[in-house]
Amino acid sequence: MCGIVGYIGKGCALDILLNGLSKQEYRGYDSAGVALMVNDKIEVFKEEGKLINLRNKIKPHASKLLSSHSGIGHIRWATHGAPTTLNAHPHQSTCGKVVVVHNGIIENFKELKEELEKCGCKFKSQTDTEVVAHLVAQEFAKVKNLTEAVCLATKRLEGSYALCIMHQDVKDTVVATKRNAPLLVGVGDGEYFVASDVPAIIEYTKKAVYLEDNQVATIHSDFLGIMDVEHNIITPHIEVLPWESVSLSKMGYKHFMLKEIHEQPDIIRNILADKLHSSDSDVTLDGVNIDKVMLKHLNRIQVVACGTSLHAAIIGKYIIETLCDIAVDIEPSSEYIYRKTLTDKNTLVIGVSQSGETADTLTAVRQSKKRGSHILIITNRPDSTMAREADSLIPVNAGIEVSVAATKSYIAQVMSFYLLAIHIAQLKGTVDESLTAALKHELIMLPMKIESILSHKEQIAEIAKIYSGFKNFVFIARGINYATALEGALKLKEISYINATGYPAGELKHGPIAMLDETMPVLSILMTGSVYDKILSNSEEAKARNARMIALTDSEDEKLDELFEHIMRVPQVHELVSPIIAIVPLQLLAYYIAEYLGKDVDQPRNLAKSVTVE
Ligand code: M6R
Repeated sequence: MCGIVGYIGKGCALDILLNGLSKQEYRGYDSAGVALMVNDKIEVFKEEGKLINLRNKIKPHASKLLSSHSGIGHIRWATHGAPTTLNAHPHQSTCGKVVVVHNGIIENFKELKEELEKCGCKFKSQTDTEVVAHLVAQEFAKVKNLTEAVCLATKRLEGSYALCIMHQDVKDTVVATKRNAPLLVGVGDGEYFVASDVPAIIEYTKKAVYLEDNQVATIHSDFLGIMDVEHNIITPHIEVLPWESVSLSKMGYKHFMLKEIHEQPDIIRNILADKLHSSDSDVTLDGVNIDKVMLKHLNRIQVVACGTSLHAAIIGKYIIETLCDIAVDIEPSSEYIYRKTLTDKNTLVIGVSQSGETADTLTAVRQSKKRGSHILIITNRPDSTMAREADSLIPVNAGIEVSVAATKSYIAQVMSFYLLAIHIAQLKGTVDESLTAALKHELIMLPMKIESILSHKEQIAEIAKIYSGFKNFVFIARGINYATALEGALKLKEISYINATGYPAGELKHGPIAMLDETMPVLSILMTGSVYDKILSNSEEAKARNARMIALTDSEDEKLDELFEHIMRVPQVHELVSPIIAIVPLQLLAYYIAEYLGKDVDQPRNLAKSVTVE
């Protein structure tokens, strides 16, 4: 979703802003812009589409801009108003002197706009953000102090925002503030950076101050002052960012998604090296502050998440209920937050989020925290808002995921659920020794098995070529792989825009079977175990309706060749860990289909990596 970068110091602001924006491109965006202070005048450049369009627009003016040492920049993912140049940030006040970049949504912008228009403000865009520029200009005209004007203006705002603001008449100053959207100030040597995401600044500094809600940072090249909107002075708490300089390189792969799929075996190895050394050892989860007393009183677990993280949670439910005998409810965060939820201090609430910033999940866990529940966050971003507010934390350690379509973070989330389930079972004493030992052994074998799938990826690419012309797909599975069907279908939808649906195989006959004919491929996830024969029967039912049948299986049964037109075979695996193996061919299938169709694999249309609006 949107990305903010700001700079003030002695360096070339233009280069630093454009570089910072490029490091946030992976989040998904549709326009970009910068504002620079050039010889005491603010210059604004913005353009729809990719960053290259903005760079091309700036090129003829670059020589005069290179001397600028302060500025703000933005990549926008449209919410209010189409993704056009006019709606791109920065936005300006009527006088042109105030420039604003914004992440989030100003919910009361319509009322504010009406009021500001009555006062003579001229609006140029359809965005909610533009009201902020006019409000700040109006307050500045009264108080002649930019920080104070920002405090007064933000008191009028409802909704969420991370804001970075400059005023032409206030030299050497950038003001930044936030509410319910992340923003940090990077601390350099005689320079400061503002960013909504660490990769934007990590190559310049590893020191940063995370702003809290309603704090306002006033940044000069040699001084950082922070206060809250009530004027209480805050001592900046400088933290060392837990990141190495992020190389957003494809390492020879055509797309980040393909690279990230290939990173999965090593990610599993790293997770295991950290938390499970051998099939005889206990799982160690240092950040999980759950003890026996708490477990004694625990009546249930609720897991909230969105998208791919929700699918990881469904597997988590299956495995925790199997190993720990605790009831687990799963709910999309966006539903959970708008109904009466029976959460209390005896409920463990698990929030799962790659980014740790997803607005729906953040709201859900905050609501539960208020009701006294212990909050455990499973995230790939230990520096995220969710992680910072958690009572317990499992960092999934997948490394930065650039492709909008989640792959490696999903596998790492699922791994985290396995380890959490074993950990809780150890604490609770519900361990079935032979089952857990088998499970641990299977987890340790996973990287090798995934590598074997990756080494035969050309076979999946061939199948993808054959099916890339179809407009609809159905993925079926049962039991623990139901989530694999959902996730496989989501991957295909996201990056190829093909209508793909995941169903529990037993549900097919209750309606969806009506859709089946020779134009509909049905992909059966047929992993050996308790529901294998059932899915086989459901696949026969689909075949009888002339559906084009594809199987994904670890079975060597040759009879499958009669039922299925194409078979993706994977190494044999224990049913309980089979989702980690089964998802890999589906990630590859989606990838290759999108590739054949010439889609923008890493940045699919309309999608953002981190969805920070509800
Ligand atoms: O950062 P989160 O895991 O909270 O994000 C949730 C979803 O937005 C995310 O999983 C989305 O579905 C991905 N594009 C999936 O590939």
